[in-house]
Amino acid sequence: MTDKTGTEHIPVDSLTLEQAALELERLASEIAHHNALYYQKDAPEISDATYDSLFRRNQQIEAKFPELIREDSPSLQVGSAPSSAFAKVTHARPMLSLANAFDEADVRDFVGRVRRFLGLAADAPVAMVAEPKIDGLSASLRYEKGRFVQGATRGDGAVGEDITANLRTVSGIPERLTGDAPDVLEVRGEVYMRKDEFLAMNEAARARIEQGEKGEKIFANPRNAAAGSLRQLDSTITAKRKLHFFGYGWGELSDPVSETQSGFMERLKGWGFGTNPLWKTLDSADALIAYHAEIAAQRSGLPYDIDGVVYKVDSIALQQRLGMVSRAPRWAIAHKFPAEQAQTRILDIEIQVGRTGALTPVANLEPVNVGGVMVSRATLHNEDEIARKDVRVGDTVILQRAGDVIPQILGPVLEQRPADSAPFIFPDKCPACGSDAVRGEGEAVRRCVGGLTCPAQAVERLRHFVSRDAFDIEGLGEKSIQAFFEDGTVKSPADLFTLQSRDGQSLTPLRNREGWGKLSADKLFAAIEQRRSVPLERFIYALGIRQIGQATAKLLARHYGSLDALTDALKDAAANPEGDAYRDLVNIDQIGPAVAKDLIAFFAEDHNRETVGALRDQVAVEDYVSRVATDSPIMGKTVVFTGTLTRVTRDEAKARAEALGAKVAGSVSKKTDYVVIGADAGSKAKKAEELLAPEQILDEDGWFDLIGA
Ligand code: IVH
Repeated sequence: MTDKTGTEHIPVDSLTLEQAALELERLASEIAHHNALYYQKDAPEISDATYDSLFRRNQQIEAKFPELIREDSPSLQVGSAPSSAFAKVTHARPMLSLANAFDEADVRDFVGRVRRFLGLAADAPVAMVAEPKIDGLSASLRYEKGRFVQGATRGDGAVGEDITANLRTVSGIPERLTGDAPDVLEVRGEVYMRKDEFLAMNEAARARIEQGEKGEKIFANPRNAAAGSLRQLDSTITAKRKLHFFGYGWGELSDPVSETQSGFMERLKGWGFGTNPLWKTLDSADALIAYHAEIAAQRSGLPYDIDGVVYKVDSIALQQRLGMVSRAPRWAIAHKFPAEQAQTRILDIEIQVGRTGALTPVANLEPVNVGGVMVSRATLHNEDEIARKDVRVGDTVILQRAGDVIPQILGPVLEQRPADSAPFIFPDKCPACGSDAVRGEGEAVRRCVGGLTCPAQAVERLRHFVSRDAFDIEGLGEKSIQAFFEDGTVKSPADLFTLQSRDGQSLTPLRNREGWGKLSADKLFAAIEQRRSVPLERFIYALGIRQIGQATAKLLARHYGSLDALTDALKDAAANPEGDAYRDLVNIDQIGPAVAKDLIAFFAEDHNRETVGALRDQVAVEDYVSRVATDSPIMGKTVVFTGTLTRVTRDEAKARAEALGAKVAGSVSKKTDYVVIGADAGSKAKKAEELLAPEQILDEDGWFDLIGA
């Protein structure tokens, strides 16, 4: 790798802040490159000694300029093993995440939503537990017959890593439970490092680095320090790091342990777990908001980092009724603290081209620490946003970061604007292919019209195709895709599946190319082979059609069941926009005319049909299989709810129907299987009578009888 900064021979003590930041950036990418070669490709290009000297240089600069420690700093990653070093653990029940509230209105909406879903009066008290949101790492601890048997990280929520040995060293995690407990008990909570211990640990590490010791790390914040410590392969190191645990939830339980969240907190304490002492039971939005303010005032004085407070419905029976939406419970929310801000300078504005041709301006920033995280890039969204904020290259800007949200540029500090600054001129040509970049009417986004001829779009489509939620092909990074595309090896997704057979005949087989070896090439071929068969919903999502995200792809898969049914329906819908196929499509709950239009347009284009056809020659697309019990009486049926329901709210009824495998539609047609009619139903009830048989028309009780509730 070439040295872009030219600073590598300057003694650390003579580096300016700016030089140090640039060199840390270079070292981060260079070391990451060598890590990938070493760990993933098993094909290092440099000697261990050279690697060590890069690593040490990075450490010395970080010790001298701790404020410049980057989010992607090698010292936060190296030494912690590659993820494959820990065994995988499938969580018996998924580990959920939380929806966020940022202001009072969001909190009131949340409480209102809970009441509405449960059909409670607008002023009915709903008891909630409020507690600090700890900025640590979540862990799941499994106890069998009162003994700690396994502990895991959250991972992606479904599968985590087995870090049992390390968790045994954490205080607040009992080895044996005190008192009665169910035979199987999974406790969930947060592992954290105290602020004072974090500072002392960094201080000691810094002193050892100055004495020339190797293998020492400086961490940017307590959370990173806790993460690095938990992922140690050697648990004696974790033991020295003094980690703590606060419990707040549960996974699998062989017997219920409490009827309330608050009761569960008491049980946790009784068994010997660490629990946060600041939790309270409260029963109105006003009280929750006051609690948030109270904890915010205590925040800086607390011994551990927190990034907000969490509210949870106290009654576990109500929690069960509320259920969840897309991996987060309906019965809980995180009320975040206001975002942290910082100032920095815009070095330049770069235009990126996305897979649908959208041009996105991205600001490259002088690296700055915002609330514990180094930030060096931020999106400026689109040209109107740049114009509205009048953000220019060279400006000092205010940056804001809220939790895990991507940093935002709030606006320039005008007093510090350089005299020679000029407004940013947004290009009207694609920077990748030179085609015109145009804005559709009423659209904020400017798009490259190059379509198939634009290399940037093609590469982005390929990247999307192999990404984790799409075909999930490991071992194909951005750089490899770019290289494959440029030398013509892979022009379209189907080419991936002929890569290996072509490679056998190639004069320059993959294993001989730069950055590759036999091992990494074989790994890639194996990863591709594994995807010869994919679920329909992944296939649809992988096509990268505008507006078709994961959720919509799944709705389509559920509705049509097979790729043939989907493509036939889209063909019919394209031929006759008034016909049944079109109406059936836009009648799918959450799919409207705009999404339908993009979908139909995609399949109407010859090239896209060819791409799909070529792919189908290579991969089998699995029909949609619902993970719902197949004995559900409404599996695959289309249901319409109309009028006011009295036993549950419309939202709850709908969620229940979907959980049982039904599709919920917004209007009645010949394809409707059941219409559930509540009080004061209007035109839909009439239409049902015209179109459907009497046994398809149910009142609320009839509906509950049907689903056996
Ligand atoms: S409850 C089903 N309570 O925040 C709800 N989470 O942003 C599960 N967290 O993944 C979470 N403190 O790692 C809950 N008092 C608290 C928490 C807390 C920190 C973390 C947890 C979760 C993340 C969601």
